Amino acid sequence: MLEPLSQGLIGSRFRWAITGAAGFVGSHLVESLLALGQEVVGMDNFLSGSTKNLEEATEKLTDDQRRRFTFIEGDIRNPEDCLALCRGVDIVLHQAALVSVPRSFEDPLLNNQCNVDGFLNVLLAAKKSGARSFVYASSAAVYGDGGEKILTEDASLNPKSPYAVAKMTDELYSQVFASDLNIAGLRYMNVYGPRQDPTSPYSGVISIWLSRIAQGQQPVIFGDGKNTRDFIYVKDVVQANIKAALFKGEKHEVFNIGTGHSVTLLDLLSVIRELYSEKTGKVAPEGTFAPFREGDIRYSKADISKAEKMLNYKPTYDLREGLDRTIDWFIFQRTG
Ligand SMILES: NC(=O)c1ccc[n+]([C@@H]2O[C@H](COP(=O)([O-])OP(=O)(O)OC[C@H]3O[C@@H](n4cnc5c(N)ncnc54)[C@H](O)[C@@H]3O)[C@@H](O)[C@H]2O)c1
Repeated sequence: MLEPLSQGLIGSRFRWAITGAAGFVGSHLVESLLALGQEVVGMDNFLSGSTKNLEEATEKLTDDQRRRFTFIEGDIRNPEDCLALCRGVDIVLHQAALVSVPRSFEDPLLNNQCNVDGFLNVLLAAKKSGARSFVYASSAAVYGDGGEKILTEDASLNPKSPYAVAKMTDELYSQVFASDLNIAGLRYMNVYGPRQDPTSPYSGVISIWLSRIAQGQQPVIFGDGKNTRDFIYVKDVVQANIKAALFKGEKHEVFNIGTGHSVTLLDLLSVIRELYSEKTGKVAPEGTFAPFREGDIRYSKADISKAEKMLNYKPTYDLREGLDRTIDWFIFQRTG
């Protein structure tokens, strides 16, 4: 996996700042960039991230690679923390956020503080520090429910939650502030993989289901199970971040980051149950249904050809392969 990524980095050592470094996506960025010989400074306030994620991200690295990592416990709502993080860095990968659609309805002000004010603090600190690139996590949530249409980046945006409004606002700010800084917004589809936190009821469906299955509990399907999603393995999201950071394009570009394929939740569950049985020799509990949730999108299908063409982004894990690795982590490593 490191091979295709390392191409753009051969002979270069950059200093990367990662917000949300103790989170799910952030900790995979830390791990891959250090393994690629880069210097990394990470920041997190542990709102949803953990030191365990950072320990796991660095445990397989050499001492030399580990020495190139610095961690700052800090908050993106604090401009001083953001300036300290960005001092002397070449590239900023902004992942920190209050990551939950339901929680953004419960506490829209906290959502705005972290996901708009915090975003702006990091963006302005990146500019002030003279960084060359700023890559940030947007979300497919900005599209709202596009029906069965395949969404391209120029589709109209129709945010359905405070969380999605914040991500859309971040894109607008990026457009305004993108002079002398390359900015790329990555509209992630549904990311999954090891270290995704299953303890929050608002986390990704795959981590929650796997955690329940590992404990012999039934996975809960909100709605009729016919909602569709494009599930993207976390290492492909790492790939997208690195390629976007090294890309010299127009001042601000947004890219859909997924696999280009979507599945219904019912189909997803049947693949998970099948793989689980193959690996453990046990039958996984069947799904149980609960009512649809506010703000949940019915269909999600995005075109990834812009990222393929402009970034040379190429998803390398199909659903079975990604699930295979994720199940290993949830069943055998974490809970096994
Ligand atoms: N996981 C997905 O499916 C998905 C989909 C679309 C977009 N995204 C976006 O990707 C990014 C990473 O998400 P994730 O899945 O890794 O979530 P995560 O919750 O695991 O990571 C977010 C990290 O940000 C940190 N954080 C939150 N508020 C902070 C603050 N005020 N100051 C400093 N740190 C703070 C948290 O402690 C956590 O470690 C987020 O911006 C999210 O909105 C994720």
